[in-house]
Amino acid sequence: MLDMVEKPAALRFTPEVAKATDALYARLSKQYKRDYWETLAPYIYEINSLKRQKNAVILAHNYMTPDIFFGVGDIVGDSLKLAQEAMKTEADIIVQCGVHFMAETAKILNPSKKVLMPDMKAGCSLAESITGEDVRNLKKQYPGIPVISYVNTSAEVKAESDVCCTSSNALKIVEALGREGHDTVIMTPDKFLSQNVAAQTKVKIIIWDGTCVVHERFTGQDVRDIRARHGADVVVLAHPECPPEVIAEADFAGSTAQMNDYIVKHQPKKAVLLTECSMSDNVAVDNPAVEMIGTCQLCPYMKMISLPKILACLRDEKPEVLIDADV
Ligand code: 13P
Ligand code: SF4
Repeated sequence: MLDMVEKPAALRFTPEVAKATDALYARLSKQYKRDYWETLAPYIYEINSLKRQKNAVILAHNYMTPDIFFGVGDIVGDSLKLAQEAMKTEADIIVQCGVHFMAETAKILNPSKKVLMPDMKAGCSLAESITGEDVRNLKKQYPGIPVISYVNTSAEVKAESDVCCTSSNALKIVEALGREGHDTVIMTPDKFLSQNVAAQTKVKIIIWDGTCVVHERFTGQDVRDIRARHGADVVVLAHPECPPEVIAEADFAGSTAQMNDYIVKHQPKKAVLLTECSMSDNVAVDNPAVEMIGTCQLCPYMKMISLPKILACLRDEKPEVLIDADV
């Protein structure tokens, strides 16, 4: 959504902007009415020009709205892919279109590059549920037990932890520690992700009590209601930050990238993604044969990122994400 950032006079839908963005509009025409698109396209054009001038790259998480995801994102995907690709980039500037912990991850992996964030207030309820001191206290309480922290944590929490995981690889990491002889591990901060991993492994997991404000809202009853309304044709996919009762009733659980891959591969007639709303919008663009059913929740943090804020951040090269050298 366009926010209230004042629109500079130069940002007009000129024939040049139309020429550069019409092919993109052809892909996104189901998502945006033409007159609204004409207010977005000048920003897309301007941001892409600035990226070339400044040798900048935009990392866009799967929860970005389609104008950002398809219009200006150079590297798109789940937290794991954004982190992996951030390590490979040759760009001088990285603009993180996602939330603050993702920008910190990009900075940790690229200490010499300038990492920018369109809105520093774009946080995450999981990252805010635990501090570095909390991890130090856990280690005192459970000496010798490794702490795995989900990528949805601050750099300070990661620094105090032994291993960092994402929703794509959480189970693999717990099992790897199990093979190294750890019969118990500590997992922070997502209670539901930890419970969902615990259901698939013999390794005992000590669980921190954080939740995602988006995924905690889905219930087993939601899944039953969807099936009652849409019948046997509907495939229900859920993010592992959802409560275990949701995962138990869903057809598939996985990270945002794994859900996308499932849809691309299986092309179900109808699908519901129990996750953030923009994910379904983005998946729908490239999978027109799949009817995406719109039961979703908005992440208030992800939705703080908008085209005007991205343009301002790239133009002014601020705010910059910096991490204390000790951390
Ligand atoms: P993914 O790693 O699955 O992209 O999840 C990130 C996130 O914030 C989910 O809420
Ligand atoms: Fe954090 Fe949940 Fe938003 Fe992801 S969807 S950024 S976990 S609050």
